[in-house]
Amino acid sequence: MAAPRTPAATAPIAPPSLWDPVVRLTHWGIAVAILCNALLTKGGGVTHVYLGWLAMTLLLMRLVWGVLGPIEARFSAFPPNPVAALRHMGQLLSGRVDHYPSHNPAGALMVYAFWVTLATVIATGLYLTGGATPMQVAADQAAVASGDWSALIKESDGESSDEDKGLRHTAEEVHDVAANLLLFLAALHVAGVFVESRAMRRNLVKPMVLGDRRK
Ligand code: HEM
Ligand code: HEM
Repeated sequence: MAAPRTPAATAPIAPPSLWDPVVRLTHWGIAVAILCNALLTKGGGVTHVYLGWLAMTLLLMRLVWGVLGPIEARFSAFPPNPVAALRHMGQLLSGRVDHYPSHNPAGALMVYAFWVTLATVIATGLYLTGGATPMQVAADQAAVASGDWSALIKESDGESSDEDKGLRHTAEEVHDVAANLLLFLAALHVAGVFVESRAMRRNLVKPMVLGDRRK
C-alpha cells in the first residue's frame, strides 16, 4: 500500500531524526547568504551578487527537492494550510501538540513565506543588475576601478525614460523591504523553533545539523 503523505493522515508520527543532506545544505547555505547579504556585504557589490546567486541556486535546488526528494522533504508532506496552522497554535497554548512527519503546519507557512520573500529579493536583484552574472559584475567593477567607465556607459546607453527610472526605484524599494522582511521572518523562525522544541519535548535543531540516526 502506498505510504500516506499528508500530515493529517500520518499524525502522530515524529519528524525525521535527521534531515537529508540536501535539506541541510540548502537550509544553512540560504541562511548564511541571507544574513551576510542583509547585514555584511555592500548592496550590489561583487560579494553581494555572488552570495545572491548562491542563494538562488540553493533555492532552486530545494524546490526541485520538494518534488524529487525523500517523502518528508516533499511539498506534499507540508502543504500550506492556515486552518491547520491556527489549530497547531491553539495546541501550543494548551501544551499538547500533534507530531508531524515533516514541518508542522505553522512552520510550513513560515517556510513558504521565506521562499516567496527570498524569490522576490532575488528577482528584484536580478532586475537591478540586468541579469549580469557575478563574473560580469566583477569584470565591470574592476574595469571602473581601473578608470575604464565604458561598461557603465554602455549600460546607460540611450536616454533612460522616467518609466525606467521609476521601475528601478520600485525594484530597489521592493528589494530592500523584502530583505528586511527576511530578517524579521528569521527572528520569528528561530523563536518558533525553540518554542516548538519545548512544546514537542524534542530538540528540533539537532536534525537540521547532524541529528541522531539512532533515535
Ligand atoms: C540573498 C538575498 C539578498 C539579500 C538579503 C539582499 C539584501 C540587500 C539589501 C539589504 C540591500 C540594500 C543595501 C543598501 O541599502 O545599501 C541590497 C542592495 C542591492 N542588492 Fe541585494 N540582496 C540579496 C540578493 C541579491 C541578488 C540575488 C542580487 C543580484 C543578482 C542583488 C543585487 C543588489 C543590488 C544591485 C543592490 C543595490 C540596489 C541599489 O542600487 O540601491 N541582491 N540587497
Ligand atoms: C536567515 C536565517 C534562516 C532562514 C532563512 C531559515 C529558513 C528555514 C527554512 C526555509 C526551513 C525549511 C527547511 C526545508 O524544508 O528546506 C527551515 C527549517 C528549520 N530551521 Fe531555519 N532558517 C534560518 C535560520 C535558522 C537558525 C539560526 C536555526 C537554529 C536555531 C534554524 C533552525 C531550523 C530548524 C530546526 C528547522 C526545521 C524545523 C522543523 O523541524 O520543522 N533556522 N529554516
